[in-house]
Amino acid sequence: MMKIYGFCVFSFCYFLISNGVQVAAFKDHRLRTNVSQPYRTAYHFQPSKNWMNGPVYYKGVYHLFYQYNPYGPLWGNMSWGHAISYDLVNWVHLDIALLENEPYDINGCFSGSTTILQNGEPVIMYTGVDTDSHQVQNLAFPKNISDPLLSEWVKPSLNPVMSPPDRVDPTQFRDPTTGWLGADGEWRVVVGSELDGHGSASLYKSKDFRTWIKSPSPLHSSNKTIMWECPDFYPVLVNGKDGLDTSVQGKNVRHVLKASFNDHDYYILGNYDPTSDRYDVDVDFLDSKWSLRYDYGRFYASKSFYDSDKKRRILWSWVNEGDTDSDAFIKGWSGLQVI
Ligand SMILES: *[C@@H]1O[C@H](CO)[C@@H](O)[C@H](O)[C@H]1NC(C)=O
Ligand SMILES: *[C@@H]1O[C@H](CO)[C@@H](O)[C@H](O)[C@H]1NC(C)=O
Ligand SMILES: *[C@@H]1O[C@H](CO)[C@@H](O)[C@H](O)[C@H]1NC(C)=O
Ligand SMILES: *[C@@H]1O[C@H](CO)[C@@H](O)[C@H](O)[C@H]1NC(C)=O
Repeated sequence: MMKIYGFCVFSFCYFLISNGVQVAAFKDHRLRTNVSQPYRTAYHFQPSKNWMNGPVYYKGVYHLFYQYNPYGPLWGNMSWGHAISYDLVNWVHLDIALLENEPYDINGCFSGSTTILQNGEPVIMYTGVDTDSHQVQNLAFPKNISDPLLSEWVKPSLNPVMSPPDRVDPTQFRDPTTGWLGADGEWRVVVGSELDGHGSASLYKSKDFRTWIKSPSPLHSSNKTIMWECPDFYPVLVNGKDGLDTSVQGKNVRHVLKASFNDHDYYILGNYDPTSDRYDVDVDFLDSKWSLRYDYGRFYASKSFYDSDKKRRILWSWVNEGDTDSDAFIKGWSGLQVI
């Protein structure tokens, strides 16, 4: 373990210097607990300690944001941890990107997504749990868009930008997707929602990514499932191996909708019409005994992003913890990320 770690430290420093990024960004990520760590992984991404759950490519840097409890190894005090990499293997931990400190997120900064706007500016949309314990969607912008590390984020005063709509349980309205542009040039996102007690992807539209209007119909819903967490909606090529940026449309393109429920990540395929926002699916969630899943082990709340450098879509997922709470306290961490 020590030997592997020594190498990691060396490679981190080496790659930081080789890429000309100031070494001040380096954070000591050694465990401060005093126990042997037979289960800590050498390869999979893990925060330095504590609880985690679960990307964007910007100016040559991969950013991973993840659900993080800065104060303990169990679920709680939900914040956005932030790490960066040039190769998706070696990671540098940065300061926390989002902390629960505003009325619209005082009870937690839950999952969300990052979108690169037309002018190249990244924006985070995330779920905040407000003073009434209602789930609302909020924005955050980089403090300095020239900073490739995107180390500081600012929450605008217009938050929240979406509140739970009618028929949606206010405690079940979360995890906005990355935005995509429709045929009219307007942004769309979907938000995981429990609509009349069933899983649904509420569809919202915006001209400027700031003011959002709910569409009358969800992008998709299924009365066979419970609430959908961490929906993901993206194009794939019918013929070809390249990944596609989230707004790509065309005849050779179909769309994947992924939803997390029943402890698994299920996906369906269909044809999406970017004018009417109609999504016609081949076989719906749980409609077949061959329900499609990304993975059959511990794997939940995944998210994909488009890597414009290598023209591929990358999927990140959270491997949740199998240990008991007391073992999590002894280890000082729980959960990891797979790619
Ligand atoms: C680590 O644990 C060992 C064995 O219990 C103990 O002797 C040692 O003092 C501990 N070290 C620290 C820094 O707590
Ligand atoms: C949340 O943070 C507080 C300290 O601010 C700590 O006392 C509490 O144990 C934490 N909760 C969890 C579940 O880690
Ligand atoms: C913004 O980031 C750039 C690149 O890191 C840096 O040169 C500049 O000083 C930063 N501006 C501010 C106001 O911090
Ligand atoms: C479930 O949805 C289908 C198709 O939308 C509809 O035909 C059916 O009546 C619904 N079932 C229930 C129990 O709501």
